[in-house]
Amino acid sequence: MAQAEWWKRGVIYQVYPRSFQDTGGDGVGDLKGIRARLGHFQDLGVDGVWISPVFTSPMADFGYDISDYRAIDPLFGTLEDFDALVADAHGRGLKLILDLVPNHTSDQHPWFLQSRASRENPKRDWYIWRDGKPDGSPPNNWLANFGGSGWAWDARTGQFYYHAYLPQQPDLNWRNPEVRAAMFDVMRFWLDRGVDGFRVDVLGHLIKDEQFRDDPPNPDWRPGQASVERHLAIYSSDRPEAHEVAAQMRRVIDAYPDRVLIGEIYLPVDRLVSYYGRRLDEANLPFNFQLLQAEWTAEALGRIVRDYEALLPPGAWPNWVLSNHDRHRIASRVGPAQARNAAVLLLTLRGTPTIYYGDEVGLEQVPIPPDRVQDPWEKNEPGLGLGRDPCRTPMPWDASPNAGFTTGRPWLPLNADWPTRNVAAERADPASMLGLHRDLLALRRSSPALSLGDYVEVAATGGVLAYERRLDGERMLAALNLTSEPRSLVLPADAAWTPVLRTAGPAAGSPAGRALALVPDAGVVLRAGT
Ligand code: GLC
Repeated sequence: MAQAEWWKRGVIYQVYPRSFQDTGGDGVGDLKGIRARLGHFQDLGVDGVWISPVFTSPMADFGYDISDYRAIDPLFGTLEDFDALVADAHGRGLKLILDLVPNHTSDQHPWFLQSRASRENPKRDWYIWRDGKPDGSPPNNWLANFGGSGWAWDARTGQFYYHAYLPQQPDLNWRNPEVRAAMFDVMRFWLDRGVDGFRVDVLGHLIKDEQFRDDPPNPDWRPGQASVERHLAIYSSDRPEAHEVAAQMRRVIDAYPDRVLIGEIYLPVDRLVSYYGRRLDEANLPFNFQLLQAEWTAEALGRIVRDYEALLPPGAWPNWVLSNHDRHRIASRVGPAQARNAAVLLLTLRGTPTIYYGDEVGLEQVPIPPDRVQDPWEKNEPGLGLGRDPCRTPMPWDASPNAGFTTGRPWLPLNADWPTRNVAAERADPASMLGLHRDLLALRRSSPALSLGDYVEVAATGGVLAYERRLDGERMLAALNLTSEPRSLVLPADAAWTPVLRTAGPAAGSPAGRALALVPDAGVVLRAGT
């Protein structure tokens, strides 16, 4: 086990810094807060922490619009706070992963201010400027992810610039070698400060079609879906040349020992796996988001795992994500009972898991009153359920005022059940969601088969998902009842199985001979003995 890279055997935890821990009393989390909570990661048993952007930003998209890549926004603290966080994390044996947002800057970034100053400015070609059509309309039909056209008109210089997200987030021109060099320098700036890797924002978007062809319509789009889904973004993203950039980023990373490159890429899995690179020389982990929208049945989940395992290039290491700061929380999607099975799935499948902060206490989507909406997507396309505030609410730590998150007014409302659903309360209850996560993480850490072993399907019927993980003679078996009815599983005959973890107390499932009875919604992990 010790020989495998840390990001293969380890578990990653995503922190959304605004909502993790406030120390300044302004209602927004900060770096000192993350540092004060490092004990939580150790107590939980994760290995690496990825923090969403903390760089200088006007916050039009809450930090995904960066105006200085080499500075910490005062809202989050200082560079000294950051260095102290890295040092303390490393002192505790934790890795720290930063969010790199290379596709676009803020419109307040000095590069863009120069670029838009005149057509002759040396930075003009750092962004994507085009003439409109003769009738004055935008250069093509590309859409912005948060609604409307992807093109914004600049009256001063008489051209449009492209923005895949908000108009305040102009896209950089990644065909320009100067842009590449500048961003690779940004990566080295943070790598030199000791960060253990990057999660690269919208990696597949970096390069757009050279001919700026229109995206075709999406025949499956229906009213009520995000407007960006009206088109199939085959020309505005996922172009072949993006792989060349991903490989260059990987070379930057690989000049440092033990670093990891994670790619945020929302694509069908056959396209997604291409971002490992032909020679496994691109992202170490192209985020696998299939569970974010999976139909929650044994059949669908089994198929997802099987297809993914089959499509992975030889030697590529898988990974799994259940929730993140852009999508609905797992506990709301599948309900509290199945959320326990989801945790078992995430932490026993083959591949690096990423846990989203708050999921370990079973946090759900928090309804946001209209006057407290923050997310620009919700403001642009209200009422469609696209808003991301409900999954970004403050971490409930304990039963003190504001759940111990802040002494001020939290920037988003807390979960209504925070007096009981919080870290301190759940730590005191071994049967809690937090207790389950700690048990699963400890089990995974102690088991080479769960950490690194092969995935082997186990035949099951009637809404049960079952699989083994195997390594060097060690065999672990996960059995998940995806239904709310009692079910049973016939255990493989060639071993004697002992339950080592149950989602629902001793009643969850005990084998009688080869028959494992599973109460409704139960998950059980068993070990093969001799
Ligand atoms: C990514 C981020 C999301 C952000 C967008 C634009 O999808 O995860 O939060 O809004 O990129 O940077």
